Amino acid sequence: MQLKHISLLNYKNIRQAELEFEPGINCFVGNNGAGKTNLLDSIYYISFCKSYFNPIDSQLICHDEEFFVIQAQYEIQNQDEEFYAALRKNRKKQFKRNKKEYSRLSDHIGLLPLVMISPGDERLISDGSDQRRKFIDGVVSQYNKSYLASILRYNRCLTQRNALLKSTKGRSASIDGQLEVWDEQLASIGALIFDERSGFIEELKPVFQKYHRFISGESEVVDIVYHSHHQRAGLEEQLKKNRERDLVLGYTSRGVHRDELEFLLDGYPIKKNGSQGQTKTFFMALKLAQYEFLNKHFGYAPVLLLDDMFDKLDDYRAARLIELMGGDSFHQIFITDTQKSRLLEIVKKTGKTFSFFNVNGGNITQDI
Ligand SMILES: Nc1ncnc2c1ncn2[C@@H]1O[C@H](COP(=O)(O)OP(=O)(O)O)[C@@H](O)[C@H]1O
Ligand SMILES: [Mg+2]
Repeated sequence: MQLKHISLLNYKNIRQAELEFEPGINCFVGNNGAGKTNLLDSIYYISFCKSYFNPIDSQLICHDEEFFVIQAQYEIQNQDEEFYAALRKNRKKQFKRNKKEYSRLSDHIGLLPLVMISPGDERLISDGSDQRRKFIDGVVSQYNKSYLASILRYNRCLTQRNALLKSTKGRSASIDGQLEVWDEQLASIGALIFDERSGFIEELKPVFQKYHRFISGESEVVDIVYHSHHQRAGLEEQLKKNRERDLVLGYTSRGVHRDELEFLLDGYPIKKNGSQGQTKTFFMALKLAQYEFLNKHFGYAPVLLLDDMFDKLDDYRAARLIELMGGDSFHQIFITDTQKSRLLEIVKKTGKTFSFFNVNGGNITQDI
């Protein structure tokens, strides 16, 4: 799969751009605030119908403008495909494939597999457990539509159950009856989600450990441990047991919405003990494992976006990352950096074809 051409109008600080891309590595160089990450984000948008960084679409429109447009030409398994995303202020967004509007945006998700690795991914480690659940859900739902449907159904049931808990002053037979209906739903849909998550983590873990060993030079041992209430039998029983407590809390305290992924570095939580560089290596290995996972499930290589990834990485780890990028598993890559000379050295070593673009105040021009 290859992104051949992109044309942008008013996407964040990029007022206008027409860019042709290499099948190999495409590099964007410029100072802080130039628009490098915004460009990567526009490529992300065309894959996921949303920004990687900002969930509010209207804020993606360039200040003082009325709309943005992203048009992208992809080659997917020797077939040319055209995608169009546009948003006008106070209107619904438009999303088209080969000039035909999608009836549901979810039909598009998964067609253009893509992995973005950005410094912001540190939040996967530092933030609360919902970030880690979102990570799993994002990857699994890219290739499994029924999983996405289960998540949506589960969330609807959970919202209903929580609303019931909140609206109730004290326990009664009628409440018990209503809660039972939701308990049953949450337990059965939750079991499907749990199975899918368990399978995914089991498959991801060794790949993650392989990449981590490779980048860190085997100096550290990492692990991922999945914790879920479903690991204990009888979720319905657990919900019932906690009913009194849930009524006091006003929310549901058991279920897959409380699942957690524990990240360990040499046996200790990386969240509390990891240095900046170790944390970066950790989430990078996690995202590279995600890449390999999607590659395997789709049968073609996703696009890889590396946002400022060589920054603050020691020379050894940077060299290992370059070695990886040069390998056959990775096809089209988009990289941003603030220093051209450093990035040029890096991409030359991969042996892949490459091109450079200058980014300055939202203007993007081809360099070499
Ligand atoms: N909707 C918008 N309209 C205009 N400029 C925007 C918008 N959203 C973000 N920006 C600007 O984009 C710039 C950041 O661009 P970014 O791509 O993150 O820079 P970098 O090159 O450092 O990656 C900031 O100056 C910010 O003000
Ligand atoms: Mg940036």
